[in-house]
Amino acid sequence: MAASAPRVRTVLLRDFTTLRVGGEAELWEVNDEAQLKEATSEPFLVLGSGANLFVSDAGVDRRVVRLGRAYNDMAGFGADATVWVGAATPLPGMVRRAQRAGLSGLEGLSGVPAVLGGAIAMNAGTRFGEMADTVAEVELFVNGALEVVPAGALGFRYRHSELPEGAVVTRARLELTPSSPEAVARTMNAVDAARAGQPKIKSAGCAFKNPPGDSAGRLIDVAGLKGLTVGDAMVAHEHGNFIINLGNASSDDVAALIALVQERLQQPLELEWRLWGF
Ligand code: FAD
Ligand code: EPU
Repeated sequence: MAASAPRVRTVLLRDFTTLRVGGEAELWEVNDEAQLKEATSEPFLVLGSGANLFVSDAGVDRRVVRLGRAYNDMAGFGADATVWVGAATPLPGMVRRAQRAGLSGLEGLSGVPAVLGGAIAMNAGTRFGEMADTVAEVELFVNGALEVVPAGALGFRYRHSELPEGAVVTRARLELTPSSPEAVARTMNAVDAARAGQPKIKSAGCAFKNPPGDSAGRLIDVAGLKGLTVGDAMVAHEHGNFIINLGNASSDDVAALIALVQERLQQPLELEWRLWGF
């Protein structure tokens, strides 16, 4: 029997990003290695849950590859402190399941929207912990084949990893630490309290990385830039590092607002967002 082909369709990337901005792309959804091989045979980008992406309204001319349901897999999670998890598994469910099992290591990621692959690529985190704290090994699809690499080879730093060019994270082995549900929940509550002031409106999280020892949000705040608006894009009143989409922001609105913020700040800030199609 012939292997099934990837599901390919033209989509609007704004429907696949939390900022709700972005134009057309050809979306290749893959559920096994053969499909990954076919999808990645031409230049491509990898889409996770779209929570850190700023996409041009012009769309992207490369294929967009997304891992399908076969990679949404956390079977056995919680039964053991060490487990392989599929890269399309949503992080929030993993964080909750680890808490119930009394396993520590993921609680610092409470409230971070992501799938595992995106959280690894970004080394997502908060000051209570980051993805790299628990990743032991990563399975990558790269150059047409699967390979397993130790976390130490991935160059994890603050909001940064060094995945090989053209690599897709397919699975990862996480190592958690036995603790108690109560202790894990206490840290989660502290994380949730730290995020309580973040806006609930459409965004892609913090736009800029924090400079060493400071908060980009605080710098934008003291520069008086909260509420600054271009079209439907606005610097959130709740937190200066969140650019929110008030409704129908265009990518030009968002790009112009980012440029304005950068121009009015005393120091350059590095974008945390990943930009597609610019
Ligand atoms: P995407 O945004 O889809 O992709 C991000 C990058 O990862 C892209 O370069 C993409 O190509 C790459 N990628 C995705 N999947 C794979 C894969 N399988 N293999 C290889 N590369 C891949 N981030 C934090 O760190 N801390 C926070 O506290 C936080 N709070 C947030 C709050 C809100 C309300 C929002 C909207 C975002 C927040 N973010 C935060 C940003 C976002 O949650 C993280 O950057 C997260 O890691 C993005 O994961 P994703 O799956 O959505 O990845
Ligand atoms: N602050 C202000 N004004 C603002 C925002 C912040 O004065 O508008 C001050 C706060 O009062 C606080 C300090 O700046 O004294 C730090 O603020 P906060 O605790 O909100 O943390 P942050 O450094 O701004 C970081 C991460 C968030 C993460 C939170 C919670 C970055 C770029 N941001 O924000 O991550 O959720 O800590 O731990 O590292 C993301 O990366 O997308 C993200 C949302």
